[in-house]
Amino acid sequence: MISTGIESLDKLLPGMMAPNTLLVIAGHPGSGKTTLATSLCHHNALNNNRCLYISFQEGREKLYRVARNFGMNLEHLESLGRFKFLKIPLISSEDMVVEIIDAINRAVYDFKPLIIVVDSVTPLLRAVESSIKARSILQNYFYELPTQVNGIVVLVAETQFSMKRIELGDIEFVADAVLILRHRIHGNLLIRELEIRKARGSPVTIARLPFSIAEGSGIRIYVPVRLEEVPDVKWDKKFKQPCQALQNAMGDYYGGEIVYVEYPSYTRPLRTSIYSVALIAVNTARTIVFSYRVSPMQLAGVLQRFLAAHGLNIDVERALNTAEEAGMMRIVGLNPSAYSVEELYYRELLEIEKFKPDLALFLDVDVIGYVDRKYFNLLRNQLLYLKKMGVLTVRSGSRHGKPDYMSLALADSIVRSLPYRDGGTIKRDIYVWRLGREPVIVRHEEVDKCIEECINVVKGFENLLKTYQLHSP
Ligand SMILES: Nc1ncnc2c1ncn2[C@@H]1O[C@H](COP(=O)(O)OP(=O)(O)OP(=O)(O)O)[C@@H](O)[C@H]1O
Ligand SMILES: [Mg+2]
Repeated sequence: MISTGIESLDKLLPGMMAPNTLLVIAGHPGSGKTTLATSLCHHNALNNNRCLYISFQEGREKLYRVARNFGMNLEHLESLGRFKFLKIPLISSEDMVVEIIDAINRAVYDFKPLIIVVDSVTPLLRAVESSIKARSILQNYFYELPTQVNGIVVLVAETQFSMKRIELGDIEFVADAVLILRHRIHGNLLIRELEIRKARGSPVTIARLPFSIAEGSGIRIYVPVRLEEVPDVKWDKKFKQPCQALQNAMGDYYGGEIVYVEYPSYTRPLRTSIYSVALIAVNTARTIVFSYRVSPMQLAGVLQRFLAAHGLNIDVERALNTAEEAGMMRIVGLNPSAYSVEELYYRELLEIEKFKPDLALFLDVDVIGYVDRKYFNLLRNQLLYLKKMGVLTVRSGSRHGKPDYMSLALADSIVRSLPYRDGGTIKRDIYVWRLGREPVIVRHEEVDKCIEECINVVKGFENLLKTYQLHSP
C-alpha cells in the first residue's frame, strides 16, 4: 500500500514499506536524498496516503520548485489536503527538543499523516550532540513515531564527504531500513549508486544499484535480474537462419538465446557483419547494435565496400538511417574506456529498455574484457535481462591468445571463425556449437555459399528499406 515511489525498488524490497517502519535515507550532500524523499512523499500522496514533509533548514519554495522540475506538483497535492510542508526552525534553547517534538505531535494530530519525512535530521542531531539526555529523547521519539502514525517515518541524514564509511551512529541500529545514496565522478561522468544497508522484512541479495536523476523522470533505479530467476528461452519467438548451411548446422535461433561469435585477432571478418545484416533482414527483426570499437559511420562504410565488392551498390549509411527512422534499428557507438563498467551497463540497459529489440548485437566485445573484469557479473545480469525480454543476443569479438571465457561461459551457441592458409589463399571454415547438439565444422565451400545467400537476402532487404522510406516521415 505504501510505496517508495520507485517501482523497481518496491519490487526488490517488497516488505520494506510495511506500516511501522523507520526508514533512513543517508548520503553525501547532493547525492539525491531530498529527491528520493520527495518522490516517496509525492507518490504516496497521489495515492491518497497523506504525507507530512518536515524541514529544519530548507524552505518550502525551493522544495516545490525542485519538485516541479521532476514533474511533481506539490502545491496541488497540498490543496487537496494530501501533502503538508512543515518548517520547524531550530532554536538554541534548553527546551528545543521538547518544542520540536511538540510541533511534530501537533502536526501529526491535525494532519493525520501516514508518512512523515524529516529532511534532514542531521542539524537536529548535531544541535543536541552534547546532551546525552536530549539525544536519547529524540532517538526514542523517532523510534516510536512510526507506531504512532501506523505508517512510515523517513529520516534523511547527511554524511560528510570526508568520511570513508558512512557513520550514522545510533540511528543505523534503530532503523528498520537504511538506504545510502552515493555519487562519485568516474572519468568525466557522474555515477550514482544506492546501497541497501539494511532492509528488515525483505531478502536482499543485491546491495548496490546504479541510479540516475533526470528532469521529468526523476529518480530511476536499475535493479538487475536476480540469478535465481533464470528465464527460459522464448520458444515461440523463432529466428530463421539466412542461409542453408547454418540452418542445417544450427537450426533456428529462439528469442532469449545468446550467441557468441569469435574470430582470431588478426582478422575481423566482414562476413560476420553480412551474416548479421542478413539475419536482421530475413527475420525483419527490430535490432539494436552496440559497437564498442568502430563508429556507426565507419561500420556503414566498411559494409558498403564489402557489398560493393559483391556487386551490390547500396548507400548503407542512408539505409541505416532509414531503418532507424522507421524504428527498426538503433545503432549505439560506445567507447567502453570512457565509462565505468556500471555506467556502461546502465547506459546499455536504458537503451535496451527503451528500444525493446528482437535482436541485440554487441560488436567487438573483447574490448570490454580488457577494460574491466568486474563487468562479468553485470554482464551476466544483463544477458539474463535480455533473455527475460526474449531478445536474441549475438555478441562478437576477437580472440586474443586466451579464449574469452566470459563470453563463452554465457553463450548458448558458439560460432568460431577458423581461417587457414591454403597455398596462396585463405580458406575459412567455421566451428559451430549449439547447446544440446554436437559441435560441427562448416567447410569453407559451404561458408562461401552461405555468404552469397546472405548477400541475396540483403539485396531483398534493400527493397524493404525502400518501402520504409516511402512510409517514413
Ligand atoms: N533538474 C534536474 N535534472 C537532473 N538532475 C538534477 C536536477 N535537479 C537536481 N538534480 C541533481 O540532483 C542532485 C540534488 O539532489 P538532492 O537535492 O536530492 O540531494 P541531497 O542529497 O538532498 O543534497 P543535500 O544534502 O544538499 O540536501 C543534484 O546533485 C543534481 O545533480
Ligand atoms: Mg537535501
